[in-house]
Amino acid sequence: MTAVASARVLASDYEEVRACRGPRSRLHMAIAIHRTVDGRSLGGLRFEPYDTPDDALTDVKRLARAMTVKAAVTGLRLGGAKGVIAHPPASPPDPELRTLALHDFAQLVDSFDGRYITAQDAGTSIDDISCVGRFTDHIAGRPRCKGGSGDPSPYTAHGIEVAIRTTLQAPIAGRHIVIVGLGHVGSHLANRLHDAGARLTVADVNDAKLVLAEQLGAQWMTPEDAIGAEADVLAPCALGGMLDLDTISRLQVSVVAGAANNQLASDLAADALLERGIVWAPDFVINAGGLIAVEDELHGFDQRRVERSIERIGDTLNEIYDRASRAGTNNLIAAQQLAVQRSGGLDGNNT
Ligand SMILES: NC(=O)c1ccc[n+]([C@@H]2O[C@H](COP(=O)([O-])OP(=O)(O)OC[C@H]3O[C@@H](n4cnc5c(N)ncnc54)[C@H](O)[C@@H]3O)[C@@H](O)[C@H]2O)c1
Repeated sequence: MTAVASARVLASDYEEVRACRGPRSRLHMAIAIHRTVDGRSLGGLRFEPYDTPDDALTDVKRLARAMTVKAAVTGLRLGGAKGVIAHPPASPPDPELRTLALHDFAQLVDSFDGRYITAQDAGTSIDDISCVGRFTDHIAGRPRCKGGSGDPSPYTAHGIEVAIRTTLQAPIAGRHIVIVGLGHVGSHLANRLHDAGARLTVADVNDAKLVLAEQLGAQWMTPEDAIGAEADVLAPCALGGMLDLDTISRLQVSVVAGAANNQLASDLAADALLERGIVWAPDFVINAGGLIAVEDELHGFDQRRVERSIERIGDTLNEIYDRASRAGTNNLIAAQQLAVQRSGGLDGNNT
């Protein structure tokens, strides 16, 4: 068996970070454990282009920390972690290289002796996670036919629907909702909202998504126009950083609630939304449906239990809105404070 010679990376706020070059694939990869709870941490594997190995390392640490906050505010006894495999932007891996890299990554996962559990994330599929699972036991999000929770996206979309319903404080039927990003989560969300009777406007950089828009009778717009569309709700379901001071000044909605991680370009954006009277449902609170499903698999997957737990995202959201209104603060600060309270502190190296 080829050994993975990984190097521990000095990262003071993190329980452990290891990086290596895969012995088979020669691709750079890293795992960051922000912290463990009861000896465990969980976070998906990103297989993405990065300009440099350092960029990948910065990203994996940032994402691991965000997983700690998400698990804490959701009330899951789980630490935050993340894994990345980086490929050069100009050369996406062919299937053979992909399998070698996933094998290398599985060995890196194994080197943590179960303290890190990996799962699907951006740039990986359920087939990729099955492939990793051929070489390590420490995976979650196995296919449904193998007793796993399967694709997390439908569960994430369920959580976003709960958040929209909770924030509107009214049924979804008849409301006008704009979805930007019709990928895994956005398309499930569009179907759910369509079934609930919403009027939809949708946007994506990929014109192939127009087919789904037509099937649902949704209006199609460019992402640029969709951000400024007059509607009840904007649901950002593409990439992070969409809400900056410029885009916020153009919003014509009363609610922003979507799946995209790190929607706010900076913390100042939370104040800008508050000043405009727009209710922002914090992304790391409402997009936890997938994490809830994957975590449930660790106890023997039970779909009804997962669905009940996702419905409770609404209670968490109401608590955040109450706290923010009582303290006169924004929803980001209120959500972060709740995460700290629910976990007894969010620093790494402390559990
Ligand atoms: N998949 C999950 O269960 C899950 C869980 C939590 C958070 N998230 C977050 O939700 C977001 C969407 O995840 P996903 O799994 O659906 O990803 P995805 O890659 O399947 O979908 C993203 C979609 O956004 C589109 N897109 C990219 N840039 C765009 C732009 N500038 N304007 C409009 N559309 C654009 C892409 O073409 C694609 O259709 C990501 O930020 C992800 O981190 C996903």
